[in-house]
Amino acid sequence: MNDFQFYSPTEFVFGKDAENDAGKYVRKHGGSKVLLHYGGGSAIRSGLLDRVKRSLEAAGLAYVELGGVKPNPRDTLVYEGIALCRREQVDFILAVGGGSVIDSSKAIAMGVPYDGDFWDFYTGKSPEAALPVATVLTIAAAGSEGSGDSVITKEEGGLKRGAGSDLIRPRFSILNPELTCTLPPYQTACGATDIMAHVFERYFTNTAEVEITDRLCEAVLLTMIHETPRVIAEPDNYQARANIMWAGTVAHTNIVGVGREQDWNSHGIEHELSALYDCAHGAGLAVIMPAWMEFVCKHDVMRFAQAAVRVWGCQMNFADPEQTAREGIRRFRQFLHSIGMPVNFAELGAKKEDIPALVEKFGLGDGRTGGFVKLSSADVATIYEIAAEASL
Ligand code: NZQ
Ligand code: ZN
Repeated sequence: MNDFQFYSPTEFVFGKDAENDAGKYVRKHGGSKVLLHYGGGSAIRSGLLDRVKRSLEAAGLAYVELGGVKPNPRDTLVYEGIALCRREQVDFILAVGGGSVIDSSKAIAMGVPYDGDFWDFYTGKSPEAALPVATVLTIAAAGSEGSGDSVITKEEGGLKRGAGSDLIRPRFSILNPELTCTLPPYQTACGATDIMAHVFERYFTNTAEVEITDRLCEAVLLTMIHETPRVIAEPDNYQARANIMWAGTVAHTNIVGVGREQDWNSHGIEHELSALYDCAHGAGLAVIMPAWMEFVCKHDVMRFAQAAVRVWGCQMNFADPEQTAREGIRRFRQFLHSIGMPVNFAELGAKKEDIPALVEKFGLGDGRTGGFVKLSSADVATIYEIAAEASL
């Protein structure tokens, strides 16, 4: 096991009706003038936004609103949010929505106290200050409610890039599983895929003997395999929603990744797809991650065989462990298909002829990525090609 620091300062408030205490928690965490940031309308239609507003009013808090965050959130609204916060002297940002709304809130939070262009933080610069951010989560997926990351798309040129800092870890996150019952099955499945991908990015490592982290990863994956079909069949199943919601947070605070090297190449490769086609991140991962697994499997067949046995219930073939490893990957793809996820480029709405452009934007040039297997541009192109043609 490698040395590590684990920092997860977020206060998680989990359970039914928890959003009615949003105002109380903003006060507790020092806010007095709030930006209420939300998406394209689901929080309005469900009545959630009104409940949150009432809670802010009951706590005697002033607020301004900015809605309209799109999935794959854009820089243009971030600039608007920064100007609004400065004009209104906002000192606390409350995101009501999913990963996109939370990431947009985090970008605004870093941008407000910064003299330059907030995009600098998405091209390598570290912020020195940020407004406090908190969340009322409406979809179990990105894990942004407990992460120090934010992913924004630059409208001009369609560049999707990430920023990371402990300064943007949410002060508190309200997790009421009931709020996720209004999700369409497709969004539920995209979220489930993203949650599983966050675990797999950490599972495939070259660091030996981190059994505790392996076992935590497997627990989250087994939970997702059990609960996801249940919520697809019964969208109002509270217990299944609750398990998935907490799994989504646990999958990305990094508690299932500490003590070892991680990968994250599937995420980078996927981000080019959601930037180009504006598809859901989880759907892109459903196409990319099994393809990545097939490409890198030979690098450590025993690790893939371990996942196949412990997670997918395969029988170990001691004479041919690679057969076991590949059976595990096949079952992963089948599982994703069974919950309504795309299997290949055609089902995702991506085009094979765009592969050279995707690789170019990925931006490796003659270099290599880090991670489990260090990929070249040619490797990335091969992974896109496997994904393009994949079948069950
Ligand atoms: O905009 P509204 O109307 O709210 O609709 C949203 C959106 O269309 C809808 N939705 C959310 N909650 C709902 C609901 N519809 C009905 N009922 C509800 N309760 O779902 C759609 C997707 O929402 P979005 O916020 O985009 O989903 P998600 O949480 O998957 O976030 C995706 C973004 O997060 C980034 C992704 O790249 C993508 O841009 N990621 C962020 C990470 C982080 N910050 O740590 C890590 C991830 O790996 C990921 O890259
Ligand atoms: Zn993700």
